[in-house]
Amino acid sequence: MQAAVRMVDIITKKRDGEELEESEVRWFIQEYTGGRIPDYQAAAFLMAVYFKGMTQDEAAVLTSAMAASGDCLDLSSIQGVKVDKHSTGGVGDKTTLILGPLVAALDIPVAKMSGRGLGHTGGTIDKLETFAGLRTEFNHQEFVELVNRNKLAVAGQSGNLTPADKKLYALRDVTGTVNSIPLIASSVMSKKIAAGADAIVLDVKYGSGAFMKDTADAKQLAEAMVEIGCSLDRHTVAVISNMDQPLGSFVGNALEVKEAVETLRGEGPADIHELSVELAAHMAVLGGRAADQQEGRCLIEEVMKNGKALAKMKQFIEGQGGDPKLVEQLELLPKAAYEIEVTSTSAGYVKAMHTAAIGRAAMVLGAGRRTLEDRIDHSVGIELHKKIGDYVEEGEPLASLHSNEADVSEVINTVRTAYLFTDTKIAPPPLIFATIH
Ligand code: URA
Repeated sequence: MQAAVRMVDIITKKRDGEELEESEVRWFIQEYTGGRIPDYQAAAFLMAVYFKGMTQDEAAVLTSAMAASGDCLDLSSIQGVKVDKHSTGGVGDKTTLILGPLVAALDIPVAKMSGRGLGHTGGTIDKLETFAGLRTEFNHQEFVELVNRNKLAVAGQSGNLTPADKKLYALRDVTGTVNSIPLIASSVMSKKIAAGADAIVLDVKYGSGAFMKDTADAKQLAEAMVEIGCSLDRHTVAVISNMDQPLGSFVGNALEVKEAVETLRGEGPADIHELSVELAAHMAVLGGRAADQQEGRCLIEEVMKNGKALAKMKQFIEGQGGDPKLVEQLELLPKAAYEIEVTSTSAGYVKAMHTAAIGRAAMVLGAGRRTLEDRIDHSVGIELHKKIGDYVEEGEPLASLHSNEADVSEVINTVRTAYLFTDTKIAPPPLIFATIH
């Protein structure tokens, strides 16, 4: 980078829609992470990207620079292709809990870094902490040994993974620049790359409970991430899936663990079963165990049927210090004091659900956090008895609240009004919209 180039020149260039040089993007990330560029200039740059976008090359360089801004996990001492998975997030999405054991049961190593959640329910780490005593903090050697022994380990994110993304994300959050495809794509992909992924399966959600509200935006985001993956030599596949209603029947940490275990036994609800098999099959293909998606699906269905996936879940929970007995005896998982029905005040077919509102209702019960300091109550959440396309009589239960407080009238109201009805029969939305290779 020439000493003469200044941040203001980079901002102006992007503002005018010109393509940045690799050296300019790398310089920006390095200097901003190092605290040598003020937030007001970084904010102006982000706004310019928001309006002018980025080329595929720019987004790939941004991703690679952000991945290199802090620690990068070296997983080379784990044998096999390390396939990571990422979901852009939704309500009731417990697929990581399911995919880990499914894929590890095929002897594909799963070395997963996961976060705590902000919002409707906890992240994967919070869900796992439903198992009392389960550890998610490991040094690098312990983590690698766990994966080599059990083929599956899940760890909390290391302190210094992608510091550039942490700083930029916080700035985007307060400058109205979160919703930019190249910025989201580079943020997500930089974390996967720093976490040591050889290959990546993405679940990009669209709908009333997702970041992306429609298929067009979800497709653009999926394509941007797949292109970044390819540019950086990581085989990447994205499945675009529906989030117009919560996934499965449960929202809340222990409740989602229970549903995940039932799915591993082959007894899960149809939507979670299907999405898990589809995503796990892609992981099996990228991990080199299956020649194609169809073979991957057969192998995954087999480990559900023959008990290997469930055995892998038990081994994984035990390996991280949790009690594997809870996997067999789900009634021992934390349970809320009250189960309160939300009855319908209308009759008809469920036509739509305000999925984000259901997520917020679960958070109010204590299943999620408003701030990172909030404590999660693992036992609480929402059980959905009706979903899109179901017929409901007036007075019939729509959902049950699992609560540790008796008076939850506000939450009852939120859940009730999250359901919209029609008189005509309606089909549920298709679960998978498209797959981007
Ligand atoms: N999730 C991320 O990790 N980054 C974004 O920018 C948006 C969602």
